[in-house]
Amino acid sequence: MLKLPGLIDPHVHVREPGATHKEDWDTVTQAALAGGVTTLLAMPNTKPPIFDEATLTLALDAANAKARCDYGQYIGAGPDNADIAAALAPKAAGLKMYLDSTFGELRLDDMTLWMPHFQTFPKLAPMVMHAESRTLAAAILFSTIYDHPVHIAHVSLKEEILLIKAAKEKGIKVTCEVCPHHLFLSTEDIPAISHEHPGRGEVRPRLATKEDVHSLWTNLDVIDCFATDHAPHTLLEKDGENPPPGFPGLETMLPLLLTAVDDGRLTVEDIRQKLHNNPKRIFNLPEQPETWVEVDENAIYEIKATESFTRCGWTPFEGWKVKGRVTKVVLRGKTAFEDGKVLAEAGYGKNIRR
Ligand code: NCD
Ligand code: ZN
Repeated sequence: MLKLPGLIDPHVHVREPGATHKEDWDTVTQAALAGGVTTLLAMPNTKPPIFDEATLTLALDAANAKARCDYGQYIGAGPDNADIAAALAPKAAGLKMYLDSTFGELRLDDMTLWMPHFQTFPKLAPMVMHAESRTLAAAILFSTIYDHPVHIAHVSLKEEILLIKAAKEKGIKVTCEVCPHHLFLSTEDIPAISHEHPGRGEVRPRLATKEDVHSLWTNLDVIDCFATDHAPHTLLEKDGENPPPGFPGLETMLPLLLTAVDDGRLTVEDIRQKLHNNPKRIFNLPEQPETWVEVDENAIYEIKATESFTRCGWTPFEGWKVKGRVTKVVLRGKTAFEDGKVLAEAGYGKNIRR
């Protein structure tokens, strides 16, 4: 039996308020616990988006009633909410800035809209950027001009990981996360995921080339965190017109990473660092006393969407053979998950900023 700390996922799309047919605070926290995640940080691109006091309250009230693991809620950076977002910083997981195209309404196309956020958001609070390719270079420049640390979400390209590496070597305060789907899948896997439904292969950032994937593995030391970017959409939506981008990931992340440990591509220490120590430090998260995850390292099985807790009902990793199963999760002294069953009750989860 392998014992891990409670895992922290800094990038989860909960879908409540507004799209609870995809997921809600109950199902997403069940999926989290089944995946060994005891703290998740929720993205603000809900309906409505979380961008002021009223919408933050909407999300936190739902979380307070339903969450089974601990959580934080990001505020979204909008075109005119810099002062409001800064005032709400103590109650939020951090500020999320959408600087590139994605799902939802929050997007800051013009750099003049970035400036007030960099000027106003508290220096010690986390600022998370969706910034791909050359936009990443701009985000890093902003970080140096305004002397504000930035955390780069879902790094997927060779040019991105190499730029972050160079920025870190210069002492620039930049941290980053990489998603399992960008470590384990490339453009070459799209036909197998799609099954004639191209929408199933859609995710932002897009799956990248084998060379990009290789560059992430050869620069593991540059990667501060793993994060799922759990982005559930139903199969009906994925297979319909205008399929929304996004993959679920909470229940498959740890099994995939443990399989990589078994293959000698990763160490258990990497998992402890990138799914606990580093996110805890970067996002300034409180200690979870008496919290751990038990894993049967030798369990070999196939990933099946029918056995998952997420409401979305599918996974891009369907049929993948993995080694390593979460058998038990203890959260703040209480058994929250055991033998495939979620035991923590709705409402047991705590807001990490309370
Ligand atoms: C996310 C979603 O569905 O909310 N989709 C995705 O492909 N990652 C949006 C996002 O994370 O940018
Ligand atoms: Zn996301």
